[in-house]
Formats: sequence, C-alpha cells, structure tokens
Amino acid sequence: MKQLREAAVFLEANNLGKTYTSGKNSVVVFEGLSLEVRQGEMVAIVGRSGVGKSTLLHLLGGLDRPTTGSVKMAEFDIFKVADVDLARFRNREIGFVFQFHHLLPEFNALENVMMPLLINRAPWGEAKRKAEALLGSVGLSSRAAHRPGELSGGEQARVAIARALVAPPRLLLADEPTGDLDGGTSEDIHGLLREVHKSQQLTSVIATHNEGLAAVCDRVLRLENGRLTNLELTIHGDRKENQESLGPPLKGGVPELG
Ligand SMILES: Nc1ncnc2c1ncn2[C@@H]1O[C@H](COP(=O)(O)OP(=O)(O)O)[C@@H](O)[C@H]1O
Ligand SMILES: [Mg+2]
Repeated sequence: MKQLREAAVFLEANNLGKTYTSGKNSVVVFEGLSLEVRQGEMVAIVGRSGVGKSTLLHLLGGLDRPTTGSVKMAEFDIFKVADVDLARFRNREIGFVFQFHHLLPEFNALENVMMPLLINRAPWGEAKRKAEALLGSVGLSSRAAHRPGELSGGEQARVAIARALVAPPRLLLADEPTGDLDGGTSEDIHGLLREVHKSQQLTSVIATHNEGLAAVCDRVLRLENGRLTNLELTIHGDRKENQESLGPPLKGGVPELG
C-alpha cells in the first residue's frame, strides 16, 4: 500500500460532469467530480444502481465525452484530441470489460479475443498467437472454437477479460464484470482480475456491487449523490467512510432507479 501511495498518478479526472439531455429532459448524473488513480492501483467504485458508475467508467475510458472537465491518462488529455485519435488511443491503451460482456455472437472465443488486434491491423498470425496465449492464461484454451452462445456466463466473462487484455492495455476498466454470475464463479473471476492486474502491471478501475470484488481492490470509492467518497479499511476489515470528499455534493442528487 505504501508503495502505491508513492506511485505516480496515472489516471486523473478533473471537475468531471455529465448531463444527459434528450428533448426537454436532462439528467445531471454528476458535476465537479475529481479522481486520481495511481500507477498500479486497483480501485473499486461501488454505489447503487443508477448513481452513474457506468457513466463514470465510460468517461474514464473515453467511450463518451463529458459535459465538463477533463480526463488525463499518463499525462495524455484524452478529450483534447479528435475522435479518430481517441479511438486509436483507446484501442491500444485501454481494456474495457463490459457489464454484459458484449462478445460478438457470430465469432468464436478466439476470434473475439483477436478482434482488437485485427482492428489495429495486426497480421492475422500474430493476432491468433497472442489471443491463444491469453485464452490460455484465463483457462479457456479448450473453448477457443466455441461461440459465446455455447459458453457459460463465467466463461464469457473470461473471454471478455482476455479480449480486454490483448492490446495489451495499460488501463483496465471493468463495469460490474461479475454482475450476472453466481458466488463461486464470481470469486474465480475476482481472483483472475487480481492476478492479471498484477501480472500485466495494470492500473484498474472496476465498478461493482460485489463486496468480494471490492475487497480484493487496493481502494474502494463510493459514488453517491454525484459525489465520490473514500471507504477506508478499518482494523477489523470492515470498510468505514472517510470524511474526505472527492467532489461537491450535487443539488437534488440523481433520480433513484430500481
Ligand atoms: N444514454 C443515456 N441517456 C440518458 N440518461 C442516461 C443515459 N445513460 C445513463 N443515463 C442515466 O444516468 C444515470 C446514471 O446511469 P448509469 O451510469 O448507468 O448508472 P449505474 O451504472 O451506476 O447504474 C441514470 O439515472 C440513468 O438513467
Ligand atoms: Mg452500470
């Protein structure tokens, strides 16, 4: 932990705000949110459904543009560049594990993992070799020729993790990666995420409802009422709230979702 506290800031969000507008309606998800993640840190973002965890991850990963504020990754100001340059940067540097995996149903597990490399115009043979190695490292060599529909939820999550790592990225973002999995399978995926985080020397931010996953992270932040709060580990292993706030309270908060 001490080493992490002294590591350089790798990912930095400043004064981040996102408002969704459609017609006359607008939803302020958050305003003035700031966040620093150090090189090598694995951070969990927890919070009720609808508080904006996915929105925050999408902004951190450059999948959506903020209404206000900036995101810097390794000093690179990701929203200062054109869409095409941002897409290229994202493809090389950021691995994203989506909540429902978003695997391509027409392609088998191996082809799904190869896809980011093929999009980057890597030669087929090289993409295949790297994808095979990664499928092996997530324990799925024997399922390479299976399509997503022929895989269990846990296996699909493994393929999604392998695909996110193939570039290989420096930042891993995962949005409730174990949301739809049973307890034992979730635990296996938590172990895998922690393992690849270390072995691939990643910086990771993971949105989760799952306390088990939050527990394997270095730091847990709660997103609530448009504000991020540090949850600190107490001596008993329970996490308690730290008074330090990482953003101003949002007037009225965000609408509750079920
Ligand atoms: N594309 C969108 N258009 C309009 N509102 C959206 C959109 N995406 C999310 N929202 C709203 O933003 C809020 C935060 O959503 P989200 O980031 O998905 O929360 P979480 O991931 O924590 O469940 C919710 O109120 C949701 O309805
Ligand atoms: Mg979400």
